[in-house]
Amino acid sequence: MPQILSADQKADFVKRGFSRRGFHRIATLLATGGVLPFYNEQALAQRAIGRAMPPDAVKIDSNENPMGPCAEAAEAIHAIVPKGGRYLSEEGARMAETLAEQEGLNAGYVQPFAGSSDPLHHSVVAFCGKDHPYVVADPGYEAGARAAQFIGAPVINVPLAKFSFTHDVKAMAAAHPSAGLIYLCNPNNPTGTLTSKQDIEWLVNNKPAGSVVLIDEAYLHFSHAEKSSYLVAADKDVIILRTFSKIYGMAGLRAGAALGRPDLLRKLSQYRSTGFVPITAMAGATASLKSKTAVPERRKIVADIREETFGFLTKHNIEFIPSQANMFMMNVKRSGRDFHDAMAREKVYIGRIWPVWPNWVRVTVGTREEMAKFQEACLKCYNA
Ligand SMILES: Cc1ncc(COP(=O)(O)O)c(C=O)c1O
Repeated sequence: MPQILSADQKADFVKRGFSRRGFHRIATLLATGGVLPFYNEQALAQRAIGRAMPPDAVKIDSNENPMGPCAEAAEAIHAIVPKGGRYLSEEGARMAETLAEQEGLNAGYVQPFAGSSDPLHHSVVAFCGKDHPYVVADPGYEAGARAAQFIGAPVINVPLAKFSFTHDVKAMAAAHPSAGLIYLCNPNNPTGTLTSKQDIEWLVNNKPAGSVVLIDEAYLHFSHAEKSSYLVAADKDVIILRTFSKIYGMAGLRAGAALGRPDLLRKLSQYRSTGFVPITAMAGATASLKSKTAVPERRKIVADIREETFGFLTKHNIEFIPSQANMFMMNVKRSGRDFHDAMAREKVYIGRIWPVWPNWVRVTVGTREEMAKFQEACLKCYNA
């Protein structure tokens, strides 16, 4: 085994019951730069398509934001470019301080990252193991489960609650007595459904001792739901993930953050090779946080287009799940895969399919023009 692991870290791996295979894989990986395979929306969407899209494609497959960075962020990014020859680590610290202040958290409770995939994957490496499974809703965002499989930790899929499609927190808490992470995405990707504050609180207060609840708030700003950062302020066993890839429109710029007790954040980061974050992304993220208009304006734009699309689906008797995010699921009443491919032939690229619901597809809310093309192609393919 490479000598990069300290005695404490080796003991930590052994305690979590890692198989030799998982152990060596992780050790080798860390020795070669500490980067986990990048299973994010883009990579998962690309796998579903399997080839390049034509330049005039309608791209509503990976929950991106066609609006891009807000004006304040774009200006801050331009302004920092001439300073790009310096490392300027204070840019990451400034973003973390700004976010901590807005969330009512003490310094040291927010850590900046280049997106939220990195802290998601590293949470899995830090807290899961052979005897400490990863618990996730089904259908749910797959990236953490892929990371768990990669390190040899079991994945327990817990079906979403019937009818409400929210997280079944009782079943998740009961899934395993020594769960490593219980992952709760709010609103959930792919359904866009919100789990209530009461249910989240219940989970945090009734989870197995030693487990960490990982709350992914990637899509939270699209809804009016309360943030869960008060649980972090109360020093609970909770880590929250935030990203600037969604409402803030900075997916390609790479900014995110983890919110948690300093001891949890230290543990999360212990196997990272570097904590460095790009200064353009951090400058844009800080400016986005300070913008008074970005979130409310964008939330309204997305909600208006989403509700118009729901009006269209209702009119044509197409079943869908009401969503609070920039995506929704619809029932195409036949193989979702076939529908997806038929839409792609119309140059409309919708999201992937979750095996547990093979007749449902996920669609990202695009611009009004994009959704007009979606509607046209949808009628053609749904009735085919
Ligand atoms: C639920 C959820 N979490 C995390 C991410 C990771 O996004 P990023 O690494 O761009 O912050 C995504 C991406 O779509 C997501 O859907």
